[in-house]
Amino acid sequence: MPDETFIYPAEPVLVEYPHPVLRKKAAPVTVFDDALRRFCRQLFAVMELEKGVGLAAPQVAVSKRIFITEHTRRKGHEGEPDPRVWINPRIEDPDGETVFEEGCLSFPAIYSKVIRHNRFTAVWQDEFGEERRQVLDHAAGDFLAIVVQHELDHLDGKLFVDYLNDLQFNQIRKRLRELEDAYRKTTGRAGSVIRR
Ligand code: NI
Repeated sequence: MPDETFIYPAEPVLVEYPHPVLRKKAAPVTVFDDALRRFCRQLFAVMELEKGVGLAAPQVAVSKRIFITEHTRRKGHEGEPDPRVWINPRIEDPDGETVFEEGCLSFPAIYSKVIRHNRFTAVWQDEFGEERRQVLDHAAGDFLAIVVQHELDHLDGKLFVDYLNDLQFNQIRKRLRELEDAYRKTTGRAGSVIRR
């Protein structure tokens, strides 16, 4: 479907694992119009309701290269609000490694440590199509560096649980089954379950 006729949902609703949309590669945004900006505002409403620090469009079943962040909502580290919209984002010049315990609104009550790039340049467009660039460095205090990598993965159908080693995966296995059972009960479908 050409972008011009893309209809954003009237009321975006959070989807959880194992909804198959979470595994789809999202399509680039080519039209920067009021409908896009309205959708972004709605993403913030969903994220605030769910008490998240980031939310990607696929998490409300919209397979578009859009995510939002509000890194100052991090528990215990609250600061001046800094809501951001990231469209068609990419990472350049990744450098170093860092480890952080992540969670995801699409995986309620699951947390695990993930290895990420420590530092990189983020390149993206804002909701008006303007290109933006920023160096993010986790070791230098940019929690946003973690959030951006996590959300960017969502646009490629990659999920934080994909990074876990066997020991870590075994620790969340039971909780994943619970989410799979809940999804099957509500939809009658298995969804995109992780076999490991
Ligand atoms: Ni997530």
